[in-house]
Amino acid sequence: PTITFIQPDGSKQVVEAKSGQTAMEAAIANSVPGIVAECGGACSCATCHVYVDEEWTERVGGPSEMEEDMLDFAFDVRPNSRLSCQIRLTDEMDGLVLHVPEEQV
Ligand code: FES
Repeated sequence: PTITFIQPDGSKQVVEAKSGQTAMEAAIANSVPGIVAECGGACSCATCHVYVDEEWTERVGGPSEMEEDMLDFAFDVRPNSRLSCQIRLTDEMDGLVLHVPEEQV
């Protein structure tokens, strides 16, 4: 699937991801700025925080309980906040839009 990352300044980066990858892995593989992913995807750092575009929140779904606990440590959490390492990409997510926060913790 093709994923679009939008920076706080509005600049966009479209990346080609593989189904089965996480959104965090796709971001790191394409050097998307603002996705730090300190823990490497273990759901224990909250530096891969993204906002799921409103159009996509339903299809992507909400965080697990463990993810929600970790999100408490993220900067400026909103109802559409997710940890991108916990978003498993599928072909149905082609066109997914994720917004990168102003800063990570
Ligand atoms: Fe650490 Fe996602 S990469 S919580």
